[in-house]
Amino acid sequence: MTTSFSLAVVGGDGIGPEVTAQALAVLDVVAPAHGLSFATTDYDLGARRYHATGETLPDSVLEEIRGHDAILLGAVGDPSVPSGVLERGLLLKLRFALDHYVNLRPSKLYSGVATPLGDHVTSRGDIDFVVVREGTEGPYVGNGGAIRVGTPHELATEVSINTAFGVERVVRDAFARAQARPRKKLTLVHKNNVLVHAGHLWTRTVDAVATEFPEVSVDYLHVDAATIFLVTDPARFDVIVTDNLFGDILTDLAAAITGGIGLAASGNVNPDGTAPSMFEPVHGSAPDIAGQSKADPTAAILSGGMLLDHLGFPEAAAQITAAVEADITERSSTPRSTEEVGEAIASRVAGGV
Ligand code: NAI
Ligand code: MG
Repeated sequence: MTTSFSLAVVGGDGIGPEVTAQALAVLDVVAPAHGLSFATTDYDLGARRYHATGETLPDSVLEEIRGHDAILLGAVGDPSVPSGVLERGLLLKLRFALDHYVNLRPSKLYSGVATPLGDHVTSRGDIDFVVVREGTEGPYVGNGGAIRVGTPHELATEVSINTAFGVERVVRDAFARAQARPRKKLTLVHKNNVLVHAGHLWTRTVDAVATEFPEVSVDYLHVDAATIFLVTDPARFDVIVTDNLFGDILTDLAAAITGGIGLAASGNVNPDGTAPSMFEPVHGSAPDIAGQSKADPTAAILSGGMLLDHLGFPEAAAQITAAVEADITERSSTPRSTEEVGEAIASRVAGGV
């Protein structure tokens, strides 16, 4: 019996469609062995749509997308569109409207991957952690405004929103993930010595939820200290839970130490299943290399693996991760095209690595 899932595909801008095509190709190779198939709907959203119609994400399209089982996204953003229009009007709108309150970003240093970290750092233990970034609150909600713009008296605010409900649900999710991992360790990252209002809400919430997860050990770091440890001792991390802004910044650093943006995958997860979750590489549309088949599709392919895991097929997901790991280990310095990398990983999946 085959279980069919509907996938909304938003390739987006720049290298987005290039890497998404490879992720879909790999999904198609892995699916049959697990009794899975995908029915995809392509959505033409991004810079081209914006220039043609002025639309970023019409409500009718949002509602159509909502009807799918999951979303695969490439990247959005183009130099021809004012900064923020597509990022806010399309990407953030999807994350907020579909209540993607868990932004999941795994970081693993695969063997053979070049890292800027020295041997004395990588030899301290396996670097394998996941950042659970809150996705629907914090300073990203658009609660702000500006007056007297462009004058010496300009006033601009960007208020960080933290609700007890919003913090608790993401903290609870992070604890459950920590509980399911071998090391069972959770680190709250905030800045509760200065951002005392939001910081204390986060700290109290972690303390309260911790009582329900006695096996999980809990640690706390200020965000500035966390940036130090991500460089000097990243092996100390297992699950990090943090707010929207800190998580955004920390995960770029996490990607940089574990082989770069071409490998970093992510999921925008609605754990309650009230709307489809969305999987995408952490990188952007890379206008500098778009259209040249130079983009590394690995992050998009790994995001496809996260999608499978989310849909309840961890073995299929593990097959993708294993194929990627094998490919990475044998990568040489000879550059390969986007298609060549995609095909190499797909054939490893097909051949059982
Ligand atoms: P970027 O991630 O697009 O590019 C940064 C650098 O990394 C560039 O040199 C690029 O060539 C390289 N790069 C990125 N992905 C790569 C890949 N798969 N393989 C090889 N090299 C890769 O970030 P940037 O330049 O800050 O942003 C470009 C546009 O993308 C902007 O409009 C930005 O707003 C948007 N953006 C969108 C995101 C999303 O859709 N989730 C996330 C980040 C940025
Ligand atoms: Mg970012």
